[in-house]
Amino acid sequence: MMRSTAAVFLAMVVVATPLLASSQPMPAPPAPPTNNSRLEKAYVALQALKRAITDDPKNLTHNWCGPDVCSYYGVYCATAPDDPCARTVASVDLTHGDLAGTLPEELGLLTDLAVFHLNSNRFCGTLPDSLRSLHLLHEIDVSNNQLSGNFPSQLLCLPNVQYVDIRFNNFCGEVPAAVFEKKIDALFINNNHFEFTLSESFSKSTASVIVLANLPGLGGCLPSSIGDMAGTLNELILLNSGISSCIPPEIGKLDKLTVLDLSFNNITGTLPDSIGNMKALEQLNIAHNRLSGEIPESICALPHLKNFTYSNNFFCGEPHRCLEVPHIDDRQNCIAGRPDQRPGEQCIEFLHQPPVHCDAHGCFAPPSPPPPVYAPPPPVY
Ligand SMILES: *[C@@H]1O[C@H](CO)[C@@H](O)[C@H](O)[C@H]1NC(C)=O
Ligand SMILES: *[C@@H]1O[C@H](CO)[C@@H](O)[C@H](O)[C@H]1NC(C)=O
Ligand SMILES: *[C@@H]1O[C@H](CO)[C@@H](O)[C@H](O)[C@H]1NC(C)=O
Ligand SMILES: *[C@@H]1O[C@H](CO)[C@@H](O)[C@H](O)[C@H]1NC(C)=O
Repeated sequence: MMRSTAAVFLAMVVVATPLLASSQPMPAPPAPPTNNSRLEKAYVALQALKRAITDDPKNLTHNWCGPDVCSYYGVYCATAPDDPCARTVASVDLTHGDLAGTLPEELGLLTDLAVFHLNSNRFCGTLPDSLRSLHLLHEIDVSNNQLSGNFPSQLLCLPNVQYVDIRFNNFCGEVPAAVFEKKIDALFINNNHFEFTLSESFSKSTASVIVLANLPGLGGCLPSSIGDMAGTLNELILLNSGISSCIPPEIGKLDKLTVLDLSFNNITGTLPDSIGNMKALEQLNIAHNRLSGEIPESICALPHLKNFTYSNNFFCGEPHRCLEVPHIDDRQNCIAGRPDQRPGEQCIEFLHQPPVHCDAHGCFAPPSPPPPVYAPPPPVY
C-alpha cells in the first residue's frame, strides 16, 4: 500500500519538477497523499528537519524523500499506541551523524515520538518550543551538539519523559528548580554554561542518575536533605561543580548509591563515618578537594568498593584496610609513610589554617536546639 502511495507521490514530483525549477525560493514539497494523518504530519516535520540541515557529510538524509517516512534512514515506525491500525513514527535516531543545522519547530508534529536521539551532531540554535507537544516522549538525547539558549524548560512539561540528556552543549542561564522536582529517571546536564546554586530542591529529585559535572557556574553546598534521595539515587556525579562546604553526614543514607563523584570541588572538613553505611558503593571519588583528617575505616570496609580515589586532599591518615581496596589513589595528601605525598610545608601550612566551620558557608540549616534533657530531680527522702 505504501508503495502505491509512493508511486502517486513520485508521479506528482515528476510533474511538479519543471514548475519548481522556475519558482524561487524552493517551496516545501507538498504533503503526500496518504490517509494516515500521523505519517503526513511526520512527513512535514522530517522534511522541515531535512531543509534545516545545512551539512550532511555522511549523506544520512539521502533517502529522506517521498511519503514513506518509515523507510527514512534513522526513522523508526511502530503501531500507534492509541490505534492498532495506524503506523506512526516512534523513534528518530541520528546519533553520531555529524549533521549541522538547526532544529525546526515542525518537530513538534512528531506527536507520537517516544525516542529522540541526536547526540554527536553539530546542531545549533535552541531546542524548539514545540517539543512540548511530544506527549509520549520517553527519551531525549541531544548531547554533544552546539545547542544554546536557556535550560529547555519545555522538556519539563512532558508527562512521560524519563531520560533527559543535554550534556556537552552551550545551554546557559538558570537551571529551574523544577528539574529536580520532576519525576525523571536520568538527568545529564553536565558540560554546559549553566549558573545555579545547589539547593534543597536538589534533594527532591527521584532520578537514579544525576550528572551535573563541569558546570563551573554551579555553586553551593551538598544539602543535608541529600539523604532524602535514598530510595532512588544510584549514581551522583558532581565533579567540578564549584561545591564548597562540607559533606553532610546524611549522605550515608544513600544506600543504593553505587557511584559517587565529588572530585574537583572545594569541599572541606572531614569525611563522615556514615559513608561507611553506603553499602552499595562501588566507586568513590573525592579527589581534588580540601578534605582532611583520617579516612574512616568503615569506608574502606564497604563490601563492594572497587575504586576509592582521594588524592589531592589533606588527609593525614588512612587505616591499613584501605590498602586492600582493589584500587585506591591516596597520592598528594599528608599521609606519613605513603609515597607521593604533598611536601611537608604544604601540610604544615594547612594545619595552621583556622579550623573549618561547616556551617560558615550559610548552606546548612541552623542546627536545631538540642532536645531538652530530662533530668529527674534527685530523690528526696
Ligand atoms: C485508506 O485507508 C483505507 C482503509 O482504512 C484503505 O482501504 C485505502 O486503500 C487507503 N487509501 C490509501 C490511499 O492509502
Ligand atoms: C553523498 O551523495 C552525493 C550525491 O548523491 C555524492 O556526490 C556524494 O559522494 C555522497 N557522499 C558520500 C560520503 O557518500
Ligand atoms: C576554597 O575554599 C578556601 C577555604 O575554604 C577558600 O579560601 C578558596 O577561595 C576557595 N576556592 C574557591 C575556588 O572557591
Ligand atoms: C578509579 O577512579 C578514577 C577516578 O574516577 C579513575 O580515573 C580511574 O581510572 C579508576 N581506576 C580504575 C582501576 O577503575
